[in-house]
This record gives sequence, C-alpha cells and structure tokens, in this order.
Amino acid sequence: MRQRKLGQHLEVSALGLGCMGMSFFYGQPPDTAEMTKLLRAAVDRGVTFFDTAEVYGPFTNEDLVGHALAPVRDQVVIATKFGIKHGEHGPTPMSGVDSRPEQIRRVTEASLKRLRTESIDLLYQHRVDPDVPIEDVAGTVKELITEGKVKHFGLSEAGAETIRRAHAVQPVTALQSEYSLWMREHETEIIPTLAELGIGLVPYSPLGKGFLTGKIDSSTSLADNDLRRLLPRFSPEAREANQALVSLLRQIADDKGATPAQIALAWVLAQKPWFVPIPGTTKLHRLEENLGALDVELTTGDLRRIEEAAADIRIQGERLPEQLQSRFGR
Ligand SMILES: NC(=O)c1ccc[n+]([C@@H]2O[C@H](COP(=O)([O-])OP(=O)(O)OC[C@H]3O[C@@H](n4cnc5c(N)ncnc54)[C@H](OP(=O)(O)O)[C@@H]3O)[C@@H](O)[C@H]2O)c1
Repeated sequence: MRQRKLGQHLEVSALGLGCMGMSFFYGQPPDTAEMTKLLRAAVDRGVTFFDTAEVYGPFTNEDLVGHALAPVRDQVVIATKFGIKHGEHGPTPMSGVDSRPEQIRRVTEASLKRLRTESIDLLYQHRVDPDVPIEDVAGTVKELITEGKVKHFGLSEAGAETIRRAHAVQPVTALQSEYSLWMREHETEIIPTLAELGIGLVPYSPLGKGFLTGKIDSSTSLADNDLRRLLPRFSPEAREANQALVSLLRQIADDKGATPAQIALAWVLAQKPWFVPIPGTTKLHRLEENLGALDVELTTGDLRRIEEAAADIRIQGERLPEQLQSRFGR
C-alpha cells in the first residue's frame, strides 16, 4: 500500500477508512461482528488510517474501532474527534458544540478507554466552538500531547483564520473537511493556507456520501433514519439534476476500465500528494473497489477533461441543512 504524509510527521496509507457508517448516519447500522471483520480485513489489505469520532453512535463507533483494532494497535493510526455537545442522549450532530478545555479532557479520557489505547494518534476538534478561543483548544491539546495522551492535533471544517491561530499554538497535522468533485469550496482559501503551513488535508465524504459512485439516483429510497434525508443535495430533484456529474464520472471510468467510485477517489488523490481521503463503506467488496482507486492513473489529459466537463455542471442543492451551515468554515 502506498503511503502519504500528513503534516510533517504522520505517515498513513494513501487511502484511509471512514468508520462512521459502521455505527451511524446511514440508517440502521450493520452488525458489529461483521464490521469488526471488515476493519480487520482493511488492515490485511494495507489500510493503516482509521477515522472515528465520539459523536458517531454516539460512542459505539469508537468502541467498535477500539475493539477491532486492539490486536494490531501498533500497526495503525487511529483518528478521533471531540467537540460536539453532550445532550440528553450523548453528543448528537444537532446538539451544538463544546470545546471547553475541561470537556476536551473528559472526552479524551473516555475516548482513550473506548479505543483501548494509551494515546490517540490524531485528535481533531470536530467543529469550531465560537465560545472558546481556538488558542485555548490548541493549548489544551498541546498539554495532552505533552502528557502522551495524544500524538497529533487536527481540526475539522475550520476556517483559514482559525487554522492559522491554532497552528501558532500547537502545530496542526491535518484538517479534515469535506472535499470531492462536487464540493470544492475549500480550493479558494483553505487549501492554499494548508499548503503554506504544511498541514495535510483529510478529505471526508470523498464519494459525495455515496452519490458519486453512481449507485444512487432520484428513485433510490433512503431509510427514514438515513441522515442524508436532511441534506438539500439529496432531495430527489437535486439527485436528478446532479446525475450529470455521475455521467461524467461514468464516461471517464469506462475509458479507464475503472468504476465511477474509483474515478471520484483517484481525482481527489491526484489533486495533491498530501491529501488522504477517507471513504467510508460497510462492505468488503466496496472497500476493495475503493482501494483499487490507487491503481487508477489519471493523466494530465484526463484531469483536464474532468475539469473542463465539471466546469459546465452546476451542482444543485446545498450540501448542508440551513441550521448547520453556521458551524462550518469558522
Ligand atoms: N469531520 C467531519 O465532520 C465528517 C463528516 C462526515 C464524515 N466524516 C468521516 O468521513 C468518512 C467518509 O465520509 P462519508 O461516509 O460521509 O461519505 P463517503 O465516504 O463519500 O460515502 C460513504 C457512502 O458511500 C457508500 N459507498 C462507499 N463505497 C462505495 C462504492 N464503491 N460503491 C457504492 N457505494 C459506496 C457507502 O455505503 P456502503 O456502506 O453501503 O458501502 C456510504 O453510504 C466517514 O466515515 C467519517 O469517518 C467526517
């Protein structure tokens, strides 16, 4: 498996595995024993970078990842996240943010236990907390690093100014933010800032939450508890309009003897050598398909063709529901 470097020192497999969907988000979560097998199969195939968060479940995803990877703990890099408020049922994406230093410490201790580890390889702030100066957040993580409880610091969906201020207190190893062929907003300010500061990017939802694989169209029914229902970009009308992008991916895929999912991932990988996408799946055959993206070589001509064709496609539907928009890019 090819390796990539995040920040100055964190070496990981060029594709990571997003674990969220194994416990949360896409309707009824799959069987835990099956997911344990899948995580171990990923390790067998050379994946060393695993992404979880306190809020996934909540709590159960960290527990699953910790249990599954315990036998190979020294061979893998585990990333997790704090910073979503604990409501009545634990943290939920809608319950607000909380990065008070005492809360960061509490969450870190609990994550260490669930992950069955002495140190978290990469600890991200999940969303910027407007009530806590980012210097205090970075300072708290710095102390946790000094104490040996955390190895690297990350941010998620933070704005350029926040990234700079955090980095001045504790070097940031990676920013984890949404990035894919249908979500390129970060190209204007964020990615140049990361390049300047030597911070890696971990693009999440690199498959557009499944849409860019071509397996979803306007008639696909999403389960009642599938959170994509809340996203304007997944309304049936938007799905219908956005098929134009899938058609483009399918054309390139046909020409290259690949699949649309592989082209979507190969495109992200081709943007910068310091991007490490973390596609999520709950199925072994899709994990293998996604890893196959590493063997797809997009030439300069292919990339130009994608660029030109994509420029003519107007993506329909906001990526976020209105009530969450203010939490992104602060
Ligand atoms: N920092 C943040 O705020 C944040 C937000 C969202 C996600 N994340 C992280 O990023 C990871 C990935 O993001 P994501 O789950 O939002 O989106 P994604 O990786 O773009 O898409 C995952 C979806 O695509 C499907 N899929 C995967 N491979 C496929 C293939 N080859 N063919 C067809 N369908 C395929 C999966 O379904 P199956 O399971 O059925 O294959 C799942 O529904 C998450 O697991 C999480 O760790 C972070």
